[in-house]
Amino acid sequence: MTKPVILTGLRANNDLTLGNYFGGILPIIKMAKDYSSEFQINMFIPDLHSFTTPIDHTKLQAQILHNARLFVAAGLPLDNPNIHLYRQSHVSAHSELTWILDCFTGMGEMARMTQFKDKTSQIGEDRVSIGLFNYPVLMAADILLYGARYVPVGEDQTQHLEFTRDIAERMNKKFGNLLTPPEPVAKQYEFFGKSKGLRIMDLVDPTKKMSKSDEQGRGVIFLGDDPQAAAKKVMSATTDDLAYVRYDKTNQPGISNLLEILSLLRGISLEDTVKEFEGHNKYGDFKRAVADEVVIFLTNFQKALAECDDRLISAKLKASEELMRQQAQATLYRVQKAIGLR
Ligand code: TYM
Repeated sequence: MTKPVILTGLRANNDLTLGNYFGGILPIIKMAKDYSSEFQINMFIPDLHSFTTPIDHTKLQAQILHNARLFVAAGLPLDNPNIHLYRQSHVSAHSELTWILDCFTGMGEMARMTQFKDKTSQIGEDRVSIGLFNYPVLMAADILLYGARYVPVGEDQTQHLEFTRDIAERMNKKFGNLLTPPEPVAKQYEFFGKSKGLRIMDLVDPTKKMSKSDEQGRGVIFLGDDPQAAAKKVMSATTDDLAYVRYDKTNQPGISNLLEILSLLRGISLEDTVKEFEGHNKYGDFKRAVADEVVIFLTNFQKALAECDDRLISAKLKASEELMRQQAQATLYRVQKAIGLR
């Protein structure tokens, strides 16, 4: 690992959403295209994270491969030796480092994780798995094995990123210079040219995150949605009765969310999008503009998806996994040695 690493992963279960695309995929693909000569780019499928909550295991294998295709359809180049695409479960050091880090992690700090607390309150402590409980430790291992410096994720993952820094620093304090913590969250935003973390909201309930685990998906745009059906979701998005387009997340969460989505789809700043629509009193016209962009985006994306070459993807997975095993093993060995296992 001679070059600094930028790394991200997206869990393989269900189809991915517009939130996943803009929060996780697009930032790293931009980096892959613009900076792959300066950085090593690791894009991986955290398949061990896919069943921390119950899933249909007969579909998992297909979903893993589908995820790889999604990255490629989004523009991940496969022919660049600085860009790697791999499956977490094919690099066993992820699991091994997790166990070690588990033994240096407090029950209390895991119990404080928002995602764990949310799920526990939804389905009850007895039905939450230990896997969901220590999920952030596996995520820390994913990052620390490669000494990743930058980790583009949506706002919902920042607590896990902070934990990754904490556990790395804790290990370093106890055992000397062992692991490289990723940059602090504020530095990450700066690097990716953002002032804050991204959180695309649900179209029906704009006070909650757009989430792929939403059963009904009426407020969720999935990357596999029929473009016209997705346009309908936008047209029936919850707004308000103020009849004035403005970016105000507190009082107009629905309109503000649509403004963010539109600016991301057009690839222009939020300020410019707000300037264009501020003061409009016909929400229908504004929503139509967003719906049209969604149709264009999904049509193009799905065309690219249909054109993906599975043989190339399989070959890339195999080659990357071979190399990642070597890189990850070197870090794992350092840790095993430091704690007295080797
Ligand atoms: P996951 O699979 O839940 O989500 C994948 C990525 O999408 C982002 N995201 C969003 N961004 C903006 N608005 C939203 N509504 C929205 N919903 C999801 C997430 O923040 C994430 O970036 N734990 C991770 C996967 C993971 C990982 C890692 C990521 C495992 N190991 C190591 C980075 C580094 C997760 O479950 O993301």
